[in-house]
Amino acid sequence: MINPVDLLQPISCYPHVVLVLGKGGVGKTTVSILLARSLSQFGSTLLLSLDPAKHLVKYLGLTSEEHVEITRNLHIQQITIDREVEAITSKYAELLRELTPSLTVYNIENVVDVVKYTPGVEEEVFLRALLRVYKSNYNYIVVDTPPTGVALRTLILPSLYLTWLNKLIEVRERIVSLRYVTARTLGRKVELKDRALEKLYEMKSEYGYLREQLALPEKTSYVIVATPEPLPMYELRETFNFLVQKTRNKPKLLVLNRVLPESIASELGVLELQRRYIEEIASYGVKWIIIEHLGRPTENIRDIEELEGRIRVLEK
Ligand SMILES: Nc1ncnc2c1ncn2[C@@H]1O[C@H](COP(=O)(O)OP(=O)(O)OP(=O)(O)O)[C@@H](O)[C@H]1O
Ligand SMILES: [Mg+2]
Repeated sequence: MINPVDLLQPISCYPHVVLVLGKGGVGKTTVSILLARSLSQFGSTLLLSLDPAKHLVKYLGLTSEEHVEITRNLHIQQITIDREVEAITSKYAELLRELTPSLTVYNIENVVDVVKYTPGVEEEVFLRALLRVYKSNYNYIVVDTPPTGVALRTLILPSLYLTWLNKLIEVRERIVSLRYVTARTLGRKVELKDRALEKLYEMKSEYGYLREQLALPEKTSYVIVATPEPLPMYELRETFNFLVQKTRNKPKLLVLNRVLPESIASELGVLELQRRYIEEIASYGVKWIIIEHLGRPTENIRDIEELEGRIRVLEK
């Protein structure tokens, strides 16, 4: 079995979040299970699936989508997007009711629908889930992410939000101070507290916190999975560069999954390609591992145990 604590150094702060990224179908869920199982030997671990396809629960033969305890140190949770979206939109509706009492029920329902079907709401659900895990009591949280596009958009959102929030706060502060000056001039009593402004400050502090966590190697490890094929390797490169540039937190571990034994790769005419990708993975200057192809699709936990014996840990 691998020693993940060694592979993901520095891990000096808890909870430590491990985000497993990669193209669809390369083995993100498989690698997430492998990592979570080995991390659970070192501390309490949550395996959180943000994958809308819910492969994790199917893989482990679980019927429940809720929080499941596998062992005392290993818990699993599948996020159900629709349910989370419902929860977020009803929170927004509540806030709207509070901030704009003049809105009718009919208007609020319209706004709720707009929020529910707005592009980006899925990313917002993931961000909320991440925020929760950074504030949880687990030692380690392994996050099985949705395919690259959604995952990377999610990671960039806190920075985008902060740009918007700073502008909105500026505007709102001006409105509040004008309202105050006008009221004072007219000799009216005025409430200094502004619920909308408070909400904006709260959001700014939450997203600022999240952006900080995502950029700290002690708090967040990025793991990128690929298979020795052109498109998954292309996405690995793109993801690596994206993370270095946008989060400034360099991925710690690269995983080349479903690597064929050389004799079979040669028979299939892909030996050279596979060797080239192995060389490329080694050239990034970070830790990397190879997971061999099991010879059949992994289907259950016994296959995962078998894969544990087929991991090769390689130094930079
Ligand atoms: N080393 C391996 N050997 C054999 N089969 C594997 C291996 N790793 C993964 N698989 C199989 O490959 C398929 C994809 O794996 P997995 O579901 O882990 O990928 P994923 O990246 O999470 O996919 P998705 O993007 O759809 O969530 C599955 O059928 C899985 O059983
Ligand atoms: Mg998956």
